[in-house]
Amino acid sequence: MTTHVDGIAPHGGHLINRLASEAERQEFLAQGDQLPRVQLDERAISDLQMIAIGGFSPLMGFMEQADYEQVVTEMRLVNGTVWSIPITLSVSQEQADPIKEGNWVRLDDAEGRFIGVLELTQKYHYNKAHEVLNVYGTDDIKHPGVKVVYDQGAVNLAGPVWLLQRDPHPLFPQYQIDPLFSRAKFKELGWQTIVGFQTRNPIHRAHEYIQKCALETVDGLFLHPLVGATKSDDIPADVRMRCYEIMLEHYFPQDRVMLAINPSAMRYAGPREAIFHALIRKNYGCTHFIVGRDHAGVGDYYGTYDAQKIFDQFEPQELGIQPMKFEHAFYCTRTQQMATTKTSPSKLEERIHLSGTKVREMLRRGELPPPQFSRPEVAAELAKAMQVPVA
Ligand code: ADX
Repeated sequence: MTTHVDGIAPHGGHLINRLASEAERQEFLAQGDQLPRVQLDERAISDLQMIAIGGFSPLMGFMEQADYEQVVTEMRLVNGTVWSIPITLSVSQEQADPIKEGNWVRLDDAEGRFIGVLELTQKYHYNKAHEVLNVYGTDDIKHPGVKVVYDQGAVNLAGPVWLLQRDPHPLFPQYQIDPLFSRAKFKELGWQTIVGFQTRNPIHRAHEYIQKCALETVDGLFLHPLVGATKSDDIPADVRMRCYEIMLEHYFPQDRVMLAINPSAMRYAGPREAIFHALIRKNYGCTHFIVGRDHAGVGDYYGTYDAQKIFDQFEPQELGIQPMKFEHAFYCTRTQQMATTKTSPSKLEERIHLSGTKVREMLRRGELPPPQFSRPEVAAELAKAMQVPVA
C-alpha cells in the first residue's frame, strides 16, 4: 500500500503505508490466538511503527537476506536504492524453529498486546561480526550499537508487516506528526524548502546556532528529536522535549519551526546513521538535512566529519535530500557569539567547546551548564529534571 503525497518524493518514490485497514485488522484479530508469536523489544516496535507510517519508505517490512547483505556491504537495497542501516527482526533459534516460512506471525509488545503482523517470507542466519564491522566500523562490544547486535537473536525473520493500529504517543501525542501529516502541514504553510534536524540531546547553543544558520536559507525548520530507544545515560526524551518547548517559546519565530517526534531508535552508527537519518527526514517531506560534528557518533569511534564525508559517496539524486553540513560550533569569547572557525578569528583559548556529553557530565557533577552553552531557561529545566541543586 502506498499513498500519493505532495512535496518532495519519498525515498524510493512512494510513501509506504502499512497500517492495517479496518477489514485487515478484524481478520488479524480473529486469528490472533492461533498465530505463532514474537515479542518485540523497544527498537523492533519503533521499526514496526516507522515502516507502517512510511518513515522507512521504501521498506515494507523487515529485510530479507539479499537486501540485508547488500545494505551491510554496499549501503544499497537489491534494487540499487540507497539504504545504510539493516532493518531486521532477530529472534533466537528456539523461537525461530516452530515458525515456518509462509506463516503469519503475531507481533506482540512487552505486555503481550497484539500490535502487528509479519508475513514471514524468509528466515535466515547472519554474521554478526560482518554486520557490525561494516555498519558500525568496529566490533567493540562497548559500542552501544554493536552491543545491541551481539545481544540479539541469531535468526532474522523477514517479510512485510502490518501495524494493527496507530495509537497516539503516550507522552507526546501532540507532536506525533507522521510523514503524511508533516507533508500536508508543509504544504499548508507554503514551505517549499524544509530543513530537518535530528537530535538525541537536550538543545544547546551550538544546536540553536546551526539550526538558525540553516533557517536563514530555507522556508522552515522541522525539529525532529528522536524519542525511540537511546542508551541509558542519554537524557530522557520527556526532558529533552520540554527543553525544546522552552526554546521555541523564547528563542525561535514560532511560525517557521515545526516540532515533531521521531519514533525511531538510535543506532549510534555515525556516518551510516547520518544517511539513514537524512532518508527518514526526506520521507517526512524535508528537502534539506543538517549534519554537524560527529553526527550520531558515540565515544571516539568516528572522525568529527566522517558523517558529512559519507554523503559524497552518493550522487545527489540518489539521496534526494540535500545535506547542510556544519563545522564544529563553539562560543567565541572574542566576538561574544556562537561561531565556527569559518566565521571566527579566535585563537583556541578563546573558544568554549561544549557538547551534549559534557553537559551530561556537568549535570551529574551537580553543575549548571553556563550561558555560553545553554540558554538559562533550558539550564534551569535540566537542573530541575536532573535534580541538581541551583545555587
Ligand atoms: S545526534 O546523535 O543526534 O547526532 P546531537 O543531538 O548532539 O546528537 O546532535 C544533533 C545534531 O547537531 C547533529 O547533526 C550533530 O552533528 C550536530 N551538533 C551537535 N553539537 C554540535 C556542535 N558543537 N557543532 C556543530 N554541530 C553540532
